[in-house]
Amino acid sequence: MAARLVFSLLLAVACSHAALAAAASSSSSSSAVEDTCAKATASGSRKDLAPFCVSTLQAAPGSAGADARGLAVIATNLTLANYTAAYATIKALQRRGGWSEREQSALATCRQLYIEALNVVHSAIHALNTGQAQAYVADMGVVRRAATGCEDAFGVGGVGVGNQLATESPLHKVDDDAINLTTVAMLIVLIL
Ligand SMILES: *[C@@H]1O[C@H](CO)[C@@H](O)[C@H](O)[C@H]1NC(C)=O
Ligand SMILES: *[C@@H]1O[C@H](CO)[C@@H](O)[C@H](O)[C@H]1NC(C)=O
Ligand SMILES: *[C@@H]1O[C@H](CO)[C@@H](O)[C@H](O)[C@H]1NC(C)=O
Repeated sequence: MAARLVFSLLLAVACSHAALAAAASSSSSSSAVEDTCAKATASGSRKDLAPFCVSTLQAAPGSAGADARGLAVIATNLTLANYTAAYATIKALQRRGGWSEREQSALATCRQLYIEALNVVHSAIHALNTGQAQAYVADMGVVRRAATGCEDAFGVGGVGVGNQLATESPLHKVDDDAINLTTVAMLIVLIL
């Protein structure tokens, strides 16, 4: 009886060790993401983006074993996927209809900006693959301006008071994600 108790105690201790080891290894595999995000956002004085950086990259396949360079590639790939999805979202909103003239014109501007940006993301990917950091940062700056330009398209000419917009941009979340993602990708490339 006593032997049995000792055995099950040993088993319990062994199990908790295994659980601790598993927890430690999973936290060390995610720490490359955390370290890279902390370093990149601190050096760019954008510590506010660290939580977005960590949650976005941790959700991306392949990020667990990646180093900073790998994470830069993943962030750039995510940007391409995001801009492709944003473009599809804009087309769907246009098809849905029911927009004021001003909104229609803003949506058309956004569609144009995002399709142009998609080409530039491809150029940025090429720059990253060939080690041209400066060209990469310049390209991603253009890519990011597409999203800010799209936001602005809904604000300009508004009849709101002060800088309050007459209409809330239906693309606010999409633009915000795009801006955050391109910023994070650039900040990571800048610490490579
Ligand atoms: C990036 O995207 C390309 C093309 O879709 C793919 O071949 C590559 O494996 C991706 N790389 C990473 C690190 O996700
Ligand atoms: C863009 O990326 C963000 C962050 O990964 C994600 O939450 C969002 O769903 C993406 N947007 C689209 C339209 O794919
Ligand atoms: C973008 O990052 C800011 C922090 O700078 C955060 O407040 C905001 O929620 C993020 N946007 C999205 C769509 O995650």
